Amino acid sequence: MLILILLPAAFLLPPGAVAGEIIDGCEAQPHSRPYMAYLDIQSRDKRSCCGGFLVSENFMLPAAHCNGDKIIVILGAHNITKNELSRQVIPVRRPYPNQDYDKEAPHNNDIILLQLERKARLNGYVGLIPLPVAHQRMHPGTVCSIAGWGSTSAHNILNSNTLREADVVVMQDAACPRNPGGIYRDYNPSTMMCVGDPEKGKSSFKGDSGGPLVCQQTAQGIVSWGSKVGTPPAVYTRVSTFIPWIRKTMRMLQP
Ligand SMILES: *[C@@H]1O[C@H](CO)[C@@H](O)[C@H](O)[C@H]1NC(C)=O
Repeated sequence: MLILILLPAAFLLPPGAVAGEIIDGCEAQPHSRPYMAYLDIQSRDKRSCCGGFLVSENFMLPAAHCNGDKIIVILGAHNITKNELSRQVIPVRRPYPNQDYDKEAPHNNDIILLQLERKARLNGYVGLIPLPVAHQRMHPGTVCSIAGWGSTSAHNILNSNTLREADVVVMQDAACPRNPGGIYRDYNPSTMMCVGDPEKGKSSFKGDSGGPLVCQQTAQGIVSWGSKVGTPPAVYTRVSTFIPWIRKTMRMLQP
């Protein structure tokens, strides 16, 4: 009896299999988001991909659940199956997950700094996205955008060849209700953002994980997790909360 009662509350979405494709978006204008990166992630037992974004010449800031044994970063890409001359392919030197990230509870503090093996060359195809001011909060109703190479519908397990994008709306925290046993029970308004109007249907999904939520030209969020079928709202890591940690870690690594 006890097991039957506890099971629904203990059920966690598998990490990596959450938040991963742009649902109901459009193909992005090629190279209109030069900060976007495609991460090719190899782990002992599987190969997967994530989105990411460049915050300095040698640092990416994806979701911590995108970490693996070996990560290759592809910058300047649009159609991932093509051999594009605009690309810079750079391996990750070292991952620096947030100290409060826990693989056993991957919804919380889902943020990681990836130091690249070498600096990216900034040009028309590869560029940086500014970070928000520490602890800045976006008002509910703010229209932001997301982009990714993830799957394009909950029925389509294949990822998209080309970068796709969609507009999404910042919701009130109450739109991700923390009911015990509910989808959003792990929602934490101080470290997460609730984004995507359920009436509109646009959302991030499998494969978009790690990509940025862009509001007012800054990376306010990171695609983190959501419902298994991709219905909005989805949950994003609240970047502004982690600015002191990001600045401190980057300063320590490049004095
Ligand atoms: C991506 O590139 C491949 C190989 O060149 C091509 O077959 C495919 O049609 C392209 N996809 C899109 C959406 O343009």
